[in-house]
Amino acid sequence: MKILINDGLSKGGIAALKAAGFDVDENKIPQEELPAKIAPFDVIVVRSASKVKADVIDGGKNLKAIVRGGDGVDNIDVKYAESKGIKVMNTPTASSASVAELALAHMFALARFIPDANATMREGLWEKKKYAKGLEIGGKTLGVIGIGRIGKELAKRALALGMKVIAHDPFVKSIDIPVALLSKEEVLKQADFVSLHLPKVPEGYVIGAAELALMKPTAYLINCARGGVADESALLAALNEGKLAGAGVDVFEKEPTENLALVKHPKVSVTPHIGANTEEAQERIGAEVAALLTEFFKK
Ligand SMILES: NC(=O)c1ccc[n+]([C@@H]2O[C@H](COP(=O)([O-])OP(=O)(O)OC[C@H]3O[C@@H](n4cnc5c(N)ncnc54)[C@H](O)[C@@H]3O)[C@@H](O)[C@H]2O)c1
Repeated sequence: MKILINDGLSKGGIAALKAAGFDVDENKIPQEELPAKIAPFDVIVVRSASKVKADVIDGGKNLKAIVRGGDGVDNIDVKYAESKGIKVMNTPTASSASVAELALAHMFALARFIPDANATMREGLWEKKKYAKGLEIGGKTLGVIGIGRIGKELAKRALALGMKVIAHDPFVKSIDIPVALLSKEEVLKQADFVSLHLPKVPEGYVIGAAELALMKPTAYLINCARGGVADESALLAALNEGKLAGAGVDVFEKEPTENLALVKHPKVSVTPHIGANTEEAQERIGAEVAALLTEFFKK
């Protein structure tokens, strides 16, 4: 079985695939050449960079499986692949803890002005007074919108830090950790930090101007979910108008983002979609990809 690893995979994952007898090719094929060059492969493994849409699927005459190492399958045309009898798989739990930790990192960064303090110190300044009014996140209320795998990992960590946790998720009716399930409006009104952990929904923005207006002017919004879950223009306006204390953003409506007004905003902590980028998550992803494929071809 020939496997094309087009966006990289951990050393452990590659070793496990080879040990299971797969013929592994790690030479990346550029996106525009994929439709013509995918034919010899039985499997393509991608992260988020490569797109596996109809053109690639049509070129994949031997394709039996498409694997997304990570969460979400936005870069794969799942319906079309399945209509051709190609199995689509992913590793949704491997990065949950890493994303939850990144959301916390943004919360800590915002509460102590770390992004702005980094920027001013690098200019040679010593603005101790500017950063006098930091906050402890312990004792504050965290509102989680979307309490699935990542939301729950974040909630557990926030509880351990002494935060009160409330959540909104229309599909979760009960939960086995001390988190109150409330309406979206109540979560937005009560929370000191609102963290988004839901998929992008077809109806559009889940957090737009109306939702931001419900939040306390002292509150912070964290988006480590997907670009387009929160409206970037409305977010920027809320920050500029003093309706929100700050925002932590890992995911953007367009990536790489060109929204420099948001990126350079002094009340914003930004990262370039690195939620799953930890050694641990990458090792887990590699091991899971190898296990999924070994199991799939056993059948
Ligand atoms: N930043 C990153 O690098 C990174 C990495 C991995 C995952 N993610 C993203 O994080 C998000 C959450 O991932 P997950 O693994 O926890 O997914 P999950 O499916 O386990 O949880 C998502 C939760 O959102 C809920 N939900 C759906 N629609 C909702 C709505 N309108 N309002 C409130 N809740 C709603 C679902 O019921 C579910 O419980 C996804 O968008 C995923 O793509 C980002």
